[in-house]
Amino acid sequence: MSLTAPSSRAARPSLRRRLLQLAERATSPLLPADYLDLFDPLRPGADLRGRIVAVHPETADASTIVIRPGADWAGHVPGQYVRLGVDVNGIRQWRAYSLTHGPRPDGNISITVKAVPDGLVSTHLVRESRPGTLVHLEQAQGDFVLPTDGGKFLFVTAGSGVTPVVGMLRNLFPVADDGVVRLACSAAYDIVVVHVAPSEPHSIFLDNLRALDDAGLIRLVARYDDVHGVLDVGDLEALVPDLHERVTLACGPGGLLDALQRHHDERGLELLTEQFRVTTRAVGEGGTVDFTGSGTMVDADGATPILDAAEAAGVLMPSGCRMGICFGCVLPLREGAVRDLRTGAVTTATPGETEGRGVPIQTCISAAAGACVIDH
Ligand SMILES: Cc1cc2nc3c(=O)[nH]c(=O)nc-3n(C[C@H](O)[C@H](O)[C@H](O)COP(=O)(O)OP(=O)(O)OC[C@H]3O[C@@H](n4cnc5c(N)ncnc54)[C@H](O)[C@@H]3O)c2cc1C
Ligand code: FES
Repeated sequence: MSLTAPSSRAARPSLRRRLLQLAERATSPLLPADYLDLFDPLRPGADLRGRIVAVHPETADASTIVIRPGADWAGHVPGQYVRLGVDVNGIRQWRAYSLTHGPRPDGNISITVKAVPDGLVSTHLVRESRPGTLVHLEQAQGDFVLPTDGGKFLFVTAGSGVTPVVGMLRNLFPVADDGVVRLACSAAYDIVVVHVAPSEPHSIFLDNLRALDDAGLIRLVARYDDVHGVLDVGDLEALVPDLHERVTLACGPGGLLDALQRHHDERGLELLTEQFRVTTRAVGEGGTVDFTGSGTMVDADGATPILDAAEAAGVLMPSGCRMGICFGCVLPLREGAVRDLRTGAVTTATPGETEGRGVPIQTCISAAAGACVIDH
């Protein structure tokens, strides 16, 4: 008996080992970091995330979402935007949203999202966001910001384009329980806001702008399409008589920004713009896109970004801002040609001439210009 006992112990796994095996089976395929993520997703060193702490409706189709960012959030300058990732129908989608406050005493950040018709992420954020939900974040970026030493400015905002401007104004003129705070450093800013909206009820942040106007801190010119008609940039000189003394910062649809650019170029006026979506200026013939990795062939017309055409066909694509600024959608074009929808410039890849690497293209602003092959 005494001789057989040790060998039978050796053949049986020890209790400790069996417990470990059980734990591994119970936790697999998660790693210890995954458990830390469950209990402390906003900790230093974790992938940057944020937790929604409040959702405030602004209009029938726009909401402000207040987010506590992870410990590694590096802060922002008002006017900048954050790229935010949310899972919609099991797929991570990234979009850019302007930050609608300056740095806040509570350390939270806020964005204001307008649900666009058929908009995947905006509709999800406006209709489904709940306090407690985790979202993915990137650090703030963008150069649509005010100089720090003051000056005379005109803000032209249209629709949800008011969001970065409200971030700047709230930073200059914070509102406390007993009214707007007059910061000494803000006295150096002389600001007129031409605020355009389809109608008064659809006008995001109108109350905030009116409060600043009433307090004599800005001059507000509100224009509603249903009352005043669509803004004609030729009327700006009448609406803002000292326009020539001001630097204009404008955020709104591409048509308005293009018209402003022409108007200001003709008069030699300074203009800084922020745009939320690509303005398509060049449409070509389209073609087929062969995605070599997945073996999927997609028919893409000449007006649709390859990114949109591929996603509509079920191809999982990398993406970010979806308007040509973040380079989150770059893929190698192996063969064929694509057209930049903003400029009409055609990029061509000829096999054998790119040392096997292909030519990097931004799929969010490129349409097929004939048959092409993309490594993905
Ligand atoms: C720098 C930057 C800052 C931004 N800041 C804000 C912000 O503060 N608030 C905000 O609401 N949005 C903002 N956007 C726009 C935002 O990133 C998304 O493009 C928008 O929410 C639509 O995404 P979606 O997934 O709902 O629409 P998608 O599913 O991508 O598109 C659905 C349909 O809507 C159209 N569409 C896409 N974007 C717009 C748009 N902006 N207006 C009208 N139609 C559109 C598309 O062409 C498509 O036909 C910003 C974009 C950028 C690049
Ligand atoms: S998704 Fe940002 S550049 Fe294409």
